[in-house]
Amino acid sequence: MKILKIHGAEKLEGTIRISGAKNAAVALIPAAILSDDTATICNVPEITDIDALCNILDLLNVKVKRATESIVIDTKGMQNNEISEALAKKLRASYYFMGALLGKYKKAEMYFPGGCSIGSRPIDLHLKGFEALGATVKQEKNKYIVEAKELKGANIYLDIASVGATINIMLAATKAKGKTIIDNAAKEPEIVNVATFLNNMGAKISGAGTSTIKIIGQEHLHSCFHEVIPDRIEAGTYIILGSLLGNPIKIDNIIPEHLDALISKLKEMGSNIEVGQDYVVINSKDDYKPTIINTAVYPGFPTDLQQPFTVLLTQANGQSKVTETIWENRFMHVPYLNNLGADITIKGQTATIRGKTKLKGGEVVATDLRAGAAMVLAALISQETTTITNAEHILRGYEGIVDKLEAVGAKIELIEI
Ligand code: EPZ
Repeated sequence: MKILKIHGAEKLEGTIRISGAKNAAVALIPAAILSDDTATICNVPEITDIDALCNILDLLNVKVKRATESIVIDTKGMQNNEISEALAKKLRASYYFMGALLGKYKKAEMYFPGGCSIGSRPIDLHLKGFEALGATVKQEKNKYIVEAKELKGANIYLDIASVGATINIMLAATKAKGKTIIDNAAKEPEIVNVATFLNNMGAKISGAGTSTIKIIGQEHLHSCFHEVIPDRIEAGTYIILGSLLGNPIKIDNIIPEHLDALISKLKEMGSNIEVGQDYVVINSKDDYKPTIINTAVYPGFPTDLQQPFTVLLTQANGQSKVTETIWENRFMHVPYLNNLGADITIKGQTATIRGKTKLKGGEVVATDLRAGAAMVLAALISQETTTITNAEHILRGYEGIVDKLEAVGAKIELIEI
């Protein structure tokens, strides 16, 4: 087990450079198998979720060359081999191999995916999308078998604007015959990044980033070069850190428009934030106003920043409210924040945070990736030492977190037991 030990209450100063987006990279790697040649992807974050996807590529006999933050994927000689249950369960994004293998081979066998325990996380919309394209879906114990004689373009309406379903259907439809329209598609920047990648390989996708995506299927996709967008959630996490402890902190290599919802909330709370073209600079403050947030699909307030943002709300003067509308189980960080001295109650999907409360150190658990990020922020503002167990969850999504935080003056160490 990995443990993070943090000695808090130090002001932090310097620059944190943001890595490539986890939730784009984890879709781009499976998408790359649609090429009949090589795909080069740069700005790939070095996180354990990427290691797991590369292990899946190995199983499929795909040649993978990794260098610092870049990856070359060569599909010549690839085989549609079984992906082991252990690997499929390592992360949520293993499910993108379903859409990609179905597109490429017209057959995909996939064990149920893993990922953070933040809700029931069904994939019915992905499967309905595959069926609309002409595939049959069978479930055998904990495995799906999705197969088609031929994939044919179709009009698909998503009941929920799901990120995963939008990408997975886009992957399969890229190799279907004819035109597919995905309506009520998710609009997250990661979807635009995946569509651009596919288009660079010769796909014909338009409308990504709007709620209607049109895909004209292609028989062959060629080699290409592509760059992962900056991680808006990693950036948001460190912007929140800067709001708490910045003296000042510059968060560099970001696309500020991707963070509009967070930045406007911070401004509403009275934050000292300067927004540049590809960076923000932020100083901490003592007198934040409380606020209300409701998580929503992009461009709304991202659910993935809700847990870290709650830590900032413990330091606002007065009562704030956070309503989680995407995941039914994303308040697991709250009991641990209360153990550290926060005053938060939960009723249904709403947390009420009464601030400002001094946080003291203690022993907490990273129950999932973003809950873990919230624990890191809480530990960094706590008066004493905090140990965070199950830190593996954090390393799944934050590249070089220990080095990045040390570089701005944090006292943090990673211990393996
Ligand atoms: C992606 O998950 C992200 N993961 C999540 O980030 C993020 O929280 C989420 O999008 C929302 O922004 C990756 O990109 C790998 P959804 P995804 O399908 O695609 C329901 C993080 O911390 N739904 O948009 O799984 C679902 O239950 C992670 O980095 C169905 O009902 O999310 C949820 O309530 C955690 N049926 C809602 O839709 C389906 O078939 C949105 O889920 C699919 C989804």
